[in-house]
Amino acid sequence: MPWLEIDGKPVEVPAGMNLIEAARLLNVEIPHYCYHAGLTVVGSCRMCQVEVEVGGRKSVAIGCNTKAADGMKVYTKTEVVHKLRQSILEFYLQHHPLDCPICDDAGECDLQNYYMEHGLHESRVALAEKKHKHKVVDVGPTVVLDSERCVLCSRCVRFCREITGTDELGIFNHGRDAELLTTPGKRLDNDYSGCVVDLCPVGALTDKDFRFKRRVWYMKRTASVCTGCSRGCNIFMDWEIDRRYKDPERRIQRLKPRYNQMVNEWWICDQGRYSYHAVDAANRLLAPVTKSASNGHAPSIDEVIASVAEKLQAVVAKSGAGSIAVLASASSSNEDLYALNRLFVEKLKVQNIDCTFGFEPKGKEDELLKRADLTPNRRGALELKIKPWGGDGQGGDELLAAVVEGEFDAVIVIRHDLSKALSERDLAKLRKNTGYIVCLAEHTTGWSDVADVVLPLAMWAEREATYTNFQGRVQKTARPFEPHGLARAEWEIWSKLGAHFGVELGAETPQALFDRIGAHFESFAGLSWDALSTGGKMLNGTPEPAYRRVQSAHPLPAY
Ligand code: SF4
Ligand code: SF4
Ligand code: FES
Repeated sequence: MPWLEIDGKPVEVPAGMNLIEAARLLNVEIPHYCYHAGLTVVGSCRMCQVEVEVGGRKSVAIGCNTKAADGMKVYTKTEVVHKLRQSILEFYLQHHPLDCPICDDAGECDLQNYYMEHGLHESRVALAEKKHKHKVVDVGPTVVLDSERCVLCSRCVRFCREITGTDELGIFNHGRDAELLTTPGKRLDNDYSGCVVDLCPVGALTDKDFRFKRRVWYMKRTASVCTGCSRGCNIFMDWEIDRRYKDPERRIQRLKPRYNQMVNEWWICDQGRYSYHAVDAANRLLAPVTKSASNGHAPSIDEVIASVAEKLQAVVAKSGAGSIAVLASASSSNEDLYALNRLFVEKLKVQNIDCTFGFEPKGKEDELLKRADLTPNRRGALELKIKPWGGDGQGGDELLAAVVEGEFDAVIVIRHDLSKALSERDLAKLRKNTGYIVCLAEHTTGWSDVADVVLPLAMWAEREATYTNFQGRVQKTARPFEPHGLARAEWEIWSKLGAHFGVELGAETPQALFDRIGAHFESFAGLSWDALSTGGKMLNGTPEPAYRRVQSAHPLPAY
């Protein structure tokens, strides 16, 4: 491994590392536009120039395409480097429009930021001489292009060639007429389109969903995990709840990828990126709904849970635990399923429980990130012994069929919309055959009208929780704000209900609950909330999968 010196400080770096990355190890930023660690190096923007001394000879080199070598001395703060950066910025700003006050990238634009840090030159260009190109081009369903602002770094072009292999973008014409546009006949319409907005170092590519919604400096950022499928991509939630003059019900403003080398590298899919709309959707269930008389006041969660406990106690006393069925969910967190297990399986000895059903929607799987299983915690559910019902050859579908046939006196349905899974006839049959139906839901659905009791659930952004992805990596979500209305985390509902049955979870926070799971389930033994840190931890006995570069199976050659 080579040893080198950067700005007088020694550093040892892995063989083959370039100078931008080597400097990062010392917290030294070398400004750059075209370089991105997830894409091939093209060395076109010249923003990353530094002085390099090898064998006593000094020269200027680009940091992105120069590998760190033993004995090399790198200078990033000399007068020569300062002049180079200033000149490059002056060159870029000759043609860049002065859109800053209205540009949606203000606050995150590397042209603005670098100008303030390295430029601050007097402009030698009259405004009228600036080059004009296409503005506000609708390039695809999610992205808008302002090609005037583009610095021709080709990151977005390389992304569509190397990562998705879809090749929708290109740089056309030459010299001062060069312009980023869509390839003739194509639209920027792939399952990862939003990633080009993250990649664009200036405001040339912006996200239709986010444009003009918030200034970035108002937003707060929370590290979390996408629950859109069983991959569990790492994300940042950018949110803002103080300024409610626009979209007052929108608390999350956008989701951005968070780097995790072993899960999603720098990327997320569009399905995950826009999944946050469900959190603040108009059809969120805000309070419990009951069919029984409420004495003229809206019942509290505690009152409703007490009534559920009374009913279930009566069912167990009359017909035993065999007359209760639980249609559980692989979208529930590890803590939810642990609490569910403690109450229903361990305490009440309910056997009729499952979390895998044929009616659950399936996603489009690809070789990049997307998984067909749209639940974030199926692996966790299996590890926590929410086992397929009835042993070999039977499963959730058989359990559901038995429920419809009226084999159970009480049915508990968690996060499933049975109005989509069952025909009207079967739904009516189930209602007629089953004495007591309890439903836990995040949104109001057709199905919730059928239940005797519906309890509102908090969503992933409103609660701290852990999920186990399909590979066995346990990761945690964060909670920047309170749940809507009276919604509660699922485990809280089981904890309150369990208290009526003498079940003590022994923990009152998701953190403490997670730390206890290991005492009951071998594969979680020794894992703790804090140890999950920002990147997650593999289950006991499950080896870390081999590193896999997220890239099209047939990448097109770099631009
Ligand atoms: S649109 Fe953005 S990412 Fe694409 S080439 Fe231009 S500046 Fe680079
Ligand atoms: S691949 Fe799955 S986990 Fe990743 S962003 Fe998309 S939906 Fe979310
Ligand atoms: S980052 Fe090195 S030339 Fe662009």
